[in-house]
Amino acid sequence: MPGAIYAEGLVKTFGEVKALDGVDLEVPEGTVLGLLGPNGAGKTTAVRVLTTLLKPDSGKAVVAGVDVLRRPNEVRRSIGLSGQFAAVDEYLTGRENLQMVGQLYQLSARDAKKRAATLLERFHLADAADRTAKTYSGGMRRRLDLAAALVVSPPVMFMDEPTTGLDPRNRQELWVVIEELVSGGTTLLLTTQYLEEADRLAHDIAVVDHGKVIARGTSDQLKARTGGERVEVVVHEREHIATARGVLEGFGKGESVVEEHTRKITVPVTGGAKLLAEVIRELDARGVEIDDIGLRRPTLDDVFLSLTGHVAEVSETNGAPDAGAGAGTGAGTGTGTGQDGTGAKETAK
Ligand SMILES: Nc1ncnc2c1ncn2[C@@H]1O[C@H](COP(=O)(O)OP(=O)(O)OP(=O)(O)O)[C@@H](O)[C@H]1O
Ligand SMILES: [Mg+2]
Repeated sequence: MPGAIYAEGLVKTFGEVKALDGVDLEVPEGTVLGLLGPNGAGKTTAVRVLTTLLKPDSGKAVVAGVDVLRRPNEVRRSIGLSGQFAAVDEYLTGRENLQMVGQLYQLSARDAKKRAATLLERFHLADAADRTAKTYSGGMRRRLDLAAALVVSPPVMFMDEPTTGLDPRNRQELWVVIEELVSGGTTLLLTTQYLEEADRLAHDIAVVDHGKVIARGTSDQLKARTGGERVEVVVHEREHIATARGVLEGFGKGESVVEEHTRKITVPVTGGAKLLAEVIRELDARGVEIDDIGLRRPTLDDVFLSLTGHVAEVSETNGAPDAGAGAGTGAGTGTGTGQDGTGAKETAK
């Protein structure tokens, strides 16, 4: 029995680029799948295929029990989408944007109004509710777009980098909203570059790279697979980074990662506290002064790095104020979401 979201062998090519190279996914009902991957991995393409906005070259997808390729209109009635680029109507106010989505979903004018007011409050947009979206900051647009995706609560939701461009407080608050949504039974596929977000929200994680799923499991399973612990050292002087790195790699079980601006060097190790003492002695012997040193378990960032060779990075264009001018969520409205930032209304092609 496939889950609420099911994909098998999805392939999508754009000229030379294989954006999806045989992607299989399964998201059981009422759970959250975090789709992680470096820029260009194929996350948005996968979301667009699953939300009927893009036709794959081959493969199969079933969402909410309905075949995505054969019955896209029916799928649209069961899903909500918040795209990577906020899609709000610039010339309408925040309130009007939300009311319009409600009416597209066939809420009565009264209910649409009520729902809009609730969401504006919840997403801290009440003060700006009656200003045109044109005057909103990137983070405000992002919040309005998310609110639009939640006007009705469809059984299956897709969120492509929902918190990119939000400040930490708004991000935390959105996590709470998402948790509430999921505890109400919604199935969610979420892409994110914030691994902390995946750690907190996702029941399962799939890591994609070059259009393929290269690892999957719970956050703990992936961390366990990455293995060992990490020694993290912050040196006092930038000039000592190279020496310290040499020392750490001598003790390490893999490549080190250097964060120049914080003067932090991290290396995977096995050997625990005893090893830590040896590292300190050796650094001292080489005259390297340290500000901080510690031993920690691998984080999801380490998992990501060891799997993809990339540090998670947020795409620069996210939350750009020139985002598309489509109507809110693609679901049910048939309007689609201008995910490519052009504002073009997409149909399956
Ligand atoms: N419409 C398109 N035309 C041509 N190439 C495309 C198109 N859409 C995506 N691609 C290419 O397909 C690959 C996957 O893109 P996709 O947007 O799915 O990546 P992503 O994982 O969402 O990346 P990001 O983290 O930057 O959002 C990239 O190489 C991208 O350049
Ligand atoms: Mg993307």
